[in-house]
Amino acid sequence: MDRLLIEGGNKLNGKVNISGFKNAALPIISASLLAADKCTIENIPSIRDVYILMDIMKGMGAEVKYNNGTMDIDTSKINTHKAPYELAKKLRASYYLMGGTIGRFKTCEITYPGGCDIGTRPIDQHIKGFEALGCSVEIQHGVIKCVASELLGTNIYLDVVSVGATINIMLASVLAKGRTVIENAAKEPHIVDTANFLNAMGADVRGAGTDVIKINGVEKLHGCTYSVIPDQIEAGTYMIATAATGGDVIINNVIPKHLESITAKLKEMGVEVVEYDDSIKVAVKSPLKNINIKTLPYPGFPTDLQQPITALLSMVSGTSIVTESIFEGRFKYVDELKRMGAKIKVEGRTSIIDGVNRLSGAKVSATDLRAGASFVIAGLMADGVTEVEDVYHIDRGYERIEQKFIGLGAKIKRISE
Ligand code: EPZ
Repeated sequence: MDRLLIEGGNKLNGKVNISGFKNAALPIISASLLAADKCTIENIPSIRDVYILMDIMKGMGAEVKYNNGTMDIDTSKINTHKAPYELAKKLRASYYLMGGTIGRFKTCEITYPGGCDIGTRPIDQHIKGFEALGCSVEIQHGVIKCVASELLGTNIYLDVVSVGATINIMLASVLAKGRTVIENAAKEPHIVDTANFLNAMGADVRGAGTDVIKINGVEKLHGCTYSVIPDQIEAGTYMIATAATGGDVIINNVIPKHLESITAKLKEMGVEVVEYDDSIKVAVKSPLKNINIKTLPYPGFPTDLQQPITALLSMVSGTSIVTESIFEGRFKYVDELKRMGAKIKVEGRTSIIDGVNRLSGAKVSATDLRAGASFVIAGLMADGVTEVEDVYHIDRGYERIEQKFIGLGAKIKRISE
């Protein structure tokens, strides 16, 4: 298992380029199933989850070439609705193959999805949508089997604002007969990106980015060329790391609008943030102030940056309160930060952070990719050397993380075993 060794105390300075968005690339690659044709998808990040999904699609019969961020995928020869069990289990986003295979074959057999250990990861809203479209669904031996004689458009009201369920119902309904309306839909930018990709393939999806999405079923889809949006969570991670080290960094290849909640909270702390067309400048010119944060669905503060910003707040004087309203189990990493000297108390879905003057480097183990990112940030702030184990979690969603941080002046190296 690879490890990262981080020597703290260096301010981050310079420029960093943000990669394509993992949580948009994964549903878009899965959605290419629906075209039964050739698609060229650009700006795909070179991360573990992409390679796992690529292997799954190849295992189902797709022809895939991927280099230098561009994927050519031909799904015309896919002739199975089953995803390879062992691979699909490794990836939360394998659940998008349910929507893709149901949309194309009216049937699916996909293992219960894996994913980060951040709480229970139900898929009841996905299943509610599939059943509403006409699927009969059974779960046997950890495999979800859906079968429909016909897919008929319908109205679906999501009980919970769910990114995955919103996207999966879009995938399952683009080739259904008639109109499907998803109400209480999630509004994340990656939902808009997936809808734009579906429309580039000839679908008719309207309203993505609002809480009502209308899908008019079409007869057939075709291949297309598409470019994935930049990763706002990766960008937010580098914004927070810059603030954490008192640095001054320009973050390139971003869509500033997607970063508004992070920008607002960093400005509230006294960080200088300047937005340009496709980049954002972050600099620390004065001592930072403690704040309170509550994670919410987009456009609220993203749950995926709760862990990174907690690392930053652990060394901001005063008390900060972070409330995690999305995933009940997303505070497991706090114990590791406390081993570095952080003073954090977790009560239910709230963490109370009393800022300390110093953190000390320690050996910590990543439990999920955003926890791993928070340990890297804590290591950049700490005295001495921090050793982050289980780096494969981080590699799932952060492309070339040590190279990008080294480019900003960090002292970080990977020990590969
Ligand atoms: C996606 O997970 C992301 N993963 C997560 O990113 C992200 O944290 C999350 O959306 C929220 O933005 C991918 O895109 C692969 P949800 P997903 O369905 O789709 C409940 C990362 O770090 N819920 O929006 O699983 C659920 O328990 C990862 O990149 C149901 O109750 O999230 C949670 O409380 C971590 N029933 C809430 O909804 C369902 O059927 C939001 O979950 C589905 C979800």
